[in-house]
Amino acid sequence: MTRLVVKKNKVRQLKQIAIYGKGGIGKSTTTSNLSAALADMGYKVMQFGCDPKADSTNTLRDGSYIPTILDLLRERGRVEAREAIFEGYNGIYCVEAGGPSPGVGCAGRVIITAVQLLKQQNIYEELELDYVIYDVLGDVVCGGFAVPIREGIAKHVFTVSSSDFMAIYAANNLFKGIQKYSNSGGALLGGVIANSVSGGYQKAIVDDFVSQTHTQVLQYVPRSITVTQSELSGKTTIEADPTSEQAKIYRALAKRVEAHELSTTPKPMDPHELREWASKWSDQILAVERGEVRSAGAQI
Ligand SMILES: Nc1ncnc2c1ncn2[C@@H]1O[C@H](COP(=O)(O)OP(=O)(O)OP(=O)(O)O)[C@@H](O)[C@H]1O
Ligand SMILES: [Mg+2]
Repeated sequence: MTRLVVKKNKVRQLKQIAIYGKGGIGKSTTTSNLSAALADMGYKVMQFGCDPKADSTNTLRDGSYIPTILDLLRERGRVEAREAIFEGYNGIYCVEAGGPSPGVGCAGRVIITAVQLLKQQNIYEELELDYVIYDVLGDVVCGGFAVPIREGIAKHVFTVSSSDFMAIYAANNLFKGIQKYSNSGGALLGGVIANSVSGGYQKAIVDDFVSQTHTQVLQYVPRSITVTQSELSGKTTIEADPTSEQAKIYRALAKRVEAHELSTTPKPMDPHELREWASKWSDQILAVERGEVRSAGAQI
């Protein structure tokens, strides 16, 4: 949902974005570097972790964990929104929704409760935020995790995917979720952030997937040891190694997000199409391995 907030004679537009993707694909790393890059560009950013693990904002706070909204509610019953907001790198507002104990309760309900708490207390307006970025766990197999899409909490969704089939499978499932709610005010898809994609057949596979599903790649992010090193130091790459090639890539991503206006309804592949598509790629890669064609993506 977009709100207009007037600040210093200037109309500010709050952009609410959700970042989805398969477990372990790089959502929190990408989101934290995006938040850090946007903050460096002068924007007021809130990163909102919607993962029960509550580790989204770690690298914005020197590797430290913050109490979650759910922890605070359990402890105190009533929570002032400001008590759940912690300052991170370059003034970024860090929030973690938290989650129920494993196997108990609904994580989606926790996300709704956490977002409502901040909205009811008009925190987004009060802090004059430019961006709220929701880092949302995994595949949309559980209706709960569709909440930021379904409830119109976020307006634009970006998905992090590599060229691995399971990551693409999860992205395709997400597209089904977006398509399902697109007519009832749900979020639309801004594009794919291709993580750990360095070129060659990896790029060709992701490019073909976005073309089949009528979407786009927002940014290619290579796998990089700089990310590993930064994470080990408890920081984003933007903070730990601001002049590195990888930091430049995260800044380019932030510029693309800044420029992004129009999100669309993706066209997910049905299970049969996805299987056929994957088999075609399997044949192509095999042909390259056997030296029958020079590069993946070429016709065989
Ligand atoms: N481009 C990259 N280069 C190198 N390492 C990366 C890159 N992207 C992510 N990683 C590493 O991959 C691991 C998983 O990343 P991350 O925690 O961001 O994934 P996630 O999708 O948020 O996972 P989860 O679903 O568990 O929340 C981390 O150790 C991170 O440093
Ligand atoms: Mg994560």
